Amino acid sequence: MRPNNLNILVIGSGGREHALAWKLAQSNRVANVYCAPGNAGMSMIGEIIPIKPLEFDKIIQFSRERAVDLVVVGPETPLIAGLADALESEGVAVFGPSRAAAQIEGSKVFTKQLLAENGITTGTFTVFSNPDEAASEIRQHFAEGRGPLVIKADGEAAGKGVVIAENEDAALQAIDQMMVRKVFGASGERIIIEEYLVGQEASLMVFADGEKVAPMTPAQDYKRAYDGDKGPNTGGMGCYSPVPALTPDLYDFAVKNIIQPTLSALMKKGIHYKGVLYAGLILTEDGPKLLEYNCRFGDPETQVVLPLLETDLVDVMEAVVEGRLDEIEIKWYNRRAVCVVLASGGYPGDYDTGFPINGLADAESAGAIVFHAGTKIADGQIVTAGGRVLGITAISDTFADAVSKAYSAVEKIRFQNMYYRKDIGARVL
Ligand code: GLY
Repeated sequence: MRPNNLNILVIGSGGREHALAWKLAQSNRVANVYCAPGNAGMSMIGEIIPIKPLEFDKIIQFSRERAVDLVVVGPETPLIAGLADALESEGVAVFGPSRAAAQIEGSKVFTKQLLAENGITTGTFTVFSNPDEAASEIRQHFAEGRGPLVIKADGEAAGKGVVIAENEDAALQAIDQMMVRKVFGASGERIIIEEYLVGQEASLMVFADGEKVAPMTPAQDYKRAYDGDKGPNTGGMGCYSPVPALTPDLYDFAVKNIIQPTLSALMKKGIHYKGVLYAGLILTEDGPKLLEYNCRFGDPETQVVLPLLETDLVDVMEAVVEGRLDEIEIKWYNRRAVCVVLASGGYPGDYDTGFPINGLADAESAGAIVFHAGTKIADGQIVTAGGRVLGITAISDTFADAVSKAYSAVEKIRFQNMYYRKDIGARVL
């Protein structure tokens, strides 16, 4: 990459991508941040480019025309479909794993088998491609009075292909939906039935340069829609970082015994993982275990992690792309970050959009960073355009102050049907 005056193209349009564009724009090495397709918040950072994440040819053409030095891919779908490979083959530098490496998120069966073959700690599991065999396993499990089961469709299922079944009926219904009625399409051709693990979850993301890793400050996501961890699963309703429950010993254990061996296992297959590897961990009584891997930054995790990164993100991404993470010292602020997601009422189910959003400047004046997700500009006004609309992040020296600052800023914002959880960060107060 050139040393300075860099042109960076961020692919995606969520809170994660706004946080990426925000952090990249702070680098004095960057001249332009382009956002494709971006959102209303990203339009205040850089030029919005009306290209969608799966329009590979247009992304390549734009990168050539505007002399893009680095493409930063936010979401998993284009990575799983091979965007990094397509850009690399055209000589465009890209931050994000190859299609082969992105299988770590794209195929749960691939990942589970990789972990099992290499003795990496995860829940016990069985893979099924026949619904009758899966149903028979389920009946036996519940007849023996064992606990809940987790049922996962193999492929990408827009985050919806995981069911925690408390009883036989729920488990059989999941099999019927995934394998017989194929509501997640080809993702239901193979499924995993997995032991249900109990414990607090933590998101541990690392930068990976193909061989070496540099862990980030960990985060904890609130996945359920309603207070008290009730209701349906969402993409994430809020987050905090760091995670006191992931003590330094557990953190080191997870890096040394789960993440690093995974990179080595991939290398044995000839796959050099470059980008962000996100380990969804569960902190069980027997120590951290891996629930799942994602091939990208988490959302909303990125909205608390990047504000705590002291080092220039461009320097880190360049080290990843050039395979020299060992040559860079990555520093983090010793502070606390909390993000509260403001959603459209009804999310993760049906919701209406197009409502004007007020109070954005007041929320920033209250000391928060306002990351946009589902927003757009219509008739000169910022309006809602998605399920998760905004992420309100506050940073402080204590969690108590960060939570209080985040919620004070939240109170400044108004849009019709606005919904948010009231208990983000309560666990660490
Ligand atoms: N917050 C969960 C995820 O990014 O997958």
